[in-house]
Amino acid sequence: MQFIDIHGHYAWDIDDGMPTQEDAIKALHVAKQNNITTIVATPHVIPGSHTLEDIKHIKDRINELKELALKNNITVYQGCELFLNHDCIQALQNDLFIPFEGTSYLLAEFDVRKELGSHDEVEDYLYEIEVRGLTPIVAHVERYFKDEVDIERVQDFIESGYVIQVNTSSLLGVHGKTVKNNAYRLIDEGLVHVIATDTHRCEGHRIPRMQEAYDVLSKQYDYHILKTLMFDNPLHILQNEAVEDIEVKKSFFKKLFTRR
Ligand SMILES: [Fe+2]
Repeated sequence: MQFIDIHGHYAWDIDDGMPTQEDAIKALHVAKQNNITTIVATPHVIPGSHTLEDIKHIKDRINELKELALKNNITVYQGCELFLNHDCIQALQNDLFIPFEGTSYLLAEFDVRKELGSHDEVEDYLYEIEVRGLTPIVAHVERYFKDEVDIERVQDFIESGYVIQVNTSSLLGVHGKTVKNNAYRLIDEGLVHVIATDTHRCEGHRIPRMQEAYDVLSKQYDYHILKTLMFDNPLHILQNEAVEDIEVKKSFFKKLFTRR
């Protein structure tokens, strides 16, 4: 199967992702080996610390990445990962963000070092995105719950029309047991729309491990579910269409014999 990766820090020397162009080239090779055909470059944008000039610089760097990626037959789209802090409303007002190219989707994240904040710093910020005609894609939802994922809260996000993204690194256990359990629980509950790599490096754990994640997940989830999460919904997003919900019915035997 081919994959579309809508979350990755492939653009170099611009955030905590790829340090150099050489690293970016290596990461593109890894992406290729993982059957990734299309990438959305999503550098971090931090409201309060980025200017319009910075946004232009980020876009220029993504354009350079596009050229490099074409040599590997990988198509790159422009995007960002907007950090939703107390300055984010001002950033939204001043165009200090980059929606996914040609679409009204915007990848947004909260602070992964903390438990998900209160209504006025989570739902209110997501609403600020929504009222501007944009659809938030909530990045790596599984990472904001240090104890156990709040299923009802994620359901509310979906009912509001938001897209839920989970990381391959979480599913592969890079961020610990709780985050891994949260990620699987979200899939089991049918509360995930997209799986993406959140690639930061060209070696180690935070590389584009899409094929590896697919191989692990295929032991317990049907092909059509994984195709929805790793190809169809990402494609819907790039075509500015609505995403599909998944309906997970795990087979008894798969459940019995799968160890996480
Ligand atoms: Fe990210």
